[in-house]
Amino acid sequence: MSAELALELHKKYFGITPKVLTFAPGRINLIGEHTDYNGGFVMPAAIDKGLWVTGRIVDGETKMISSITGTSKPFCANTTEPGDSSGWAKYPAGMAWALRSKYGPMPNLECAVYSTLPSGSGVSSSAAIEMAFGMLWKALVGFEMTAKGMALLGQKCENEYIGVNCGIMDQMASACGKADHAIFIDTRNLEIEYSSVSEQYAVMLLDTKKPRALTASAYNERRSQCEAAATAMGVSFLRDADLEMLQTNKSALDDITYRRARHVITENNRCQEFRSVLDTDDREGIFALMKGSHDSLRDDYEVSCPELDAMAESAWVSPGVVGARMTGAGFGGACVALVERSSVSEFSKICLKGYKEKTGKDGDALVCSIEDGARILSF
Ligand code: GLA
Repeated sequence: MSAELALELHKKYFGITPKVLTFAPGRINLIGEHTDYNGGFVMPAAIDKGLWVTGRIVDGETKMISSITGTSKPFCANTTEPGDSSGWAKYPAGMAWALRSKYGPMPNLECAVYSTLPSGSGVSSSAAIEMAFGMLWKALVGFEMTAKGMALLGQKCENEYIGVNCGIMDQMASACGKADHAIFIDTRNLEIEYSSVSEQYAVMLLDTKKPRALTASAYNERRSQCEAAATAMGVSFLRDADLEMLQTNKSALDDITYRRARHVITENNRCQEFRSVLDTDDREGIFALMKGSHDSLRDDYEVSCPELDAMAESAWVSPGVVGARMTGAGFGGACVALVERSSVSEFSKICLKGYKEKTGKDGDALVCSIEDGARILSF
């Protein structure tokens, strides 16, 4: 349906039906938060909500229409440089710039973007735009590009074109997703292993409706604190530190740096353990690890907020919950929950009621199915 809507949008706006359509999913992260820029482990999954993008090579500039934001400022795929585009066009323009660095000149396109991603809830629409456009140019130009290669170019686009110092998790999840599986990623070497998520569980996005705030500055600050902690402990990445090393070096770290490092070290441990408890369907283990992750993000990493805490606390005591925690960078956005499939409607009702009692706000609860990663849908 969404694919047809993207094609219709293209036809309506540009007067022609294009030949190529791509899809890239958003992501939800089950566990392993703020570990990816520390060389650590993450366990996200690609979801059914995402972006459908149509495209056709044209002369002139790259022109785009989006189902959410309408038209955007045209750009030239072959000459765009960091700083010369704005709004959401920055993401396709940055992807063209990153692709050019590896594959040479990129043609200009006319494109329509249809999105089903809830905005501001932290399911990584930016990575989805990058991956959908990466696939689009790949299909239209015909170069060879692996999913991991595309994820790395998406990260280059974020870091060097957009100016956000993010890790690799979001792009890897959108590019390498597999239906019904979470992706265990070792972000140091980008090796991935898939773990199936029991079909008895629904993966739910619990949207606080609190838009994320201060994300870029606070994110970059956390990153620097992690780098400082790694340097003080004599390792290149916090991935190489353990709790014993942290205790040994405690006097060399101020309280904040110590707690940031403790979050990353314990979160890496939790993420590795999570893979086993998911495989063996150990519900107590799933609950404890997801709660432990949330507690650590709230107290040690300080990236939660009253709304995320209220949603997680409400989820922990709602019927059918298997586990819940905040997901994504934090400072607003959403929690992720694993919920007994047969209890989804009761869980949603009680969890959102509890959230409203605590915050006075209406949240939202969405079931997400776990889907394959970015792909070309027609050619
Ligand atoms: C954002 C970044 C990711 C990752 C998460 C936190 O989504 O884009 O690279 O660091 O925050 O886990």
